[in-house]
Amino acid sequence: MRINRHLPLAVPICISFFSVLLVGYIFSKPASSDIEIAIPLGLPPLEAHQRPVKRQVELGRKLFFDRRLAFNNTNSCAMCHIETQGLTSNQSATAIGMEGRSLNRNAPALYNVAYEKTLFHDGRETDLAQQAWSPLLSSLEMANPSIGSVVDRIRGLEDYKGLFETAFDERGVSMETIGAALASYQRTLLAGNSRFDQWYYGKKAGALSDDEKHGFEVFAGKGSCATCHTIGEKSALFTDGNFYVTGIGYHTAIGAGSRVSKVQLAPGEFVEIKHEDMETYSAPRLNDIGRFAVTLDPKDRWSYKTPGLRNVELTFPYMHDGSLSTLEDVVEFYDKGGYEHDGDRVLQPLGLTAKEKADLVAFLKSLTTAEDKAKHSPYR
Ligand code: HEC
Ligand code: HEC
Repeated sequence: MRINRHLPLAVPICISFFSVLLVGYIFSKPASSDIEIAIPLGLPPLEAHQRPVKRQVELGRKLFFDRRLAFNNTNSCAMCHIETQGLTSNQSATAIGMEGRSLNRNAPALYNVAYEKTLFHDGRETDLAQQAWSPLLSSLEMANPSIGSVVDRIRGLEDYKGLFETAFDERGVSMETIGAALASYQRTLLAGNSRFDQWYYGKKAGALSDDEKHGFEVFAGKGSCATCHTIGEKSALFTDGNFYVTGIGYHTAIGAGSRVSKVQLAPGEFVEIKHEDMETYSAPRLNDIGRFAVTLDPKDRWSYKTPGLRNVELTFPYMHDGSLSTLEDVVEFYDKGGYEHDGDRVLQPLGLTAKEKADLVAFLKSLTTAEDKAKHSPYR
């Protein structure tokens, strides 16, 4: 019988080879609480507390789309943050809630909300899992009378039986688990890998046209846009997370606005509606003083959070009150130096040429993620 002379050597080699594989596998395997989520090109890595928990995402999605979370079974999160409308409501300047009641702010798009340090236009909330209770309990939004009533209602729904227990290690329906599930789903709404990212971070020279590259130069240079809508060396969220007075809030508060809203009926087709007409069938807008309501610091009056600009092409209308309908309107607004605020101009007039303005808009449209654009169909 021939004994393989290599066997004594082969066994230890094999064992050590497999143990290397095993150790590699253990260390590369994400912790069970992490979703194996690929971070799109151009976004920073998610820190542990920002990551969605895989077992909770489907449940969170079910809750997000469920109209039975509103007191009268008619309103879900997804009806104001509409998946096919850039996770906002393209047709309403300010959101429309319970029984047609108007809110005084525009529904923010929820792209990349996982990274936000503060939530809402005034930053009054800091925890995504807590945030959900604001719309759930607001009489203008989902109008539930109490936390307990929401918990009881979900406990009573047949199709939720066992889902919370599976997602949360036997913990059932509660204020915490409802908020955490919704947060996990929203943390998966990442938007990156736009043509801008492929050009800037992926070094693909042909990903942007010359006009778009010129628009980027205006954005980062003459337009000073990137001082607040920041772009980092390795990633960009297009927001510094801070609060600024651009004049929009003050302008509306003193009634200097046009008192006319442009409403888009079909692509490129707008009608103008006077606010006094609107107020005959909905409540007049409440005064909005922005960040001041959170800090009570007079310098924060009429200041609002810098929004991220990813998918901005899809998330019209713009600003905290939805008062600017198109990206061309936004660029025009900045070119004039924003609106006056209490006598001060916070933004300076830019003196952009027609070509610079057009290229800036073209650049803003290069921040769109192809998959999100494919989903976007506001006029379906
Ligand atoms: C009636 C429309 C409406 C409904 C329903 C609604 N929202 Fe909103 N949402 C808004 C508006 C308007 C704001 C901004 C409010 C503000 O800044 O004061 C907002 C803000 C947010 C924010 C903050 C985003 C940011 O970038 O600061 C998150 C997150 C959010 N909503 C998630 C939800 C979830 C989860 C639900 C369901 C439980 C929900 N929304 C239901 C209209 C709505
Ligand atoms: C001083 C900081 C600052 C600068 C500079 C700045 N922005 Fe903004 N931007 C903001 C803030 C704050 C808002 C939100 C204002 C509001 O909600 O009323 C905003 C809103 C926007 C929006 C609307 C986004 C949305 O989802 O509603 C766009 C688009 C935008 N900015 C583009 C630009 C461009 C283009 C420039 C350069 C010409 C620029 N910004 C310069 C702070 C800034």
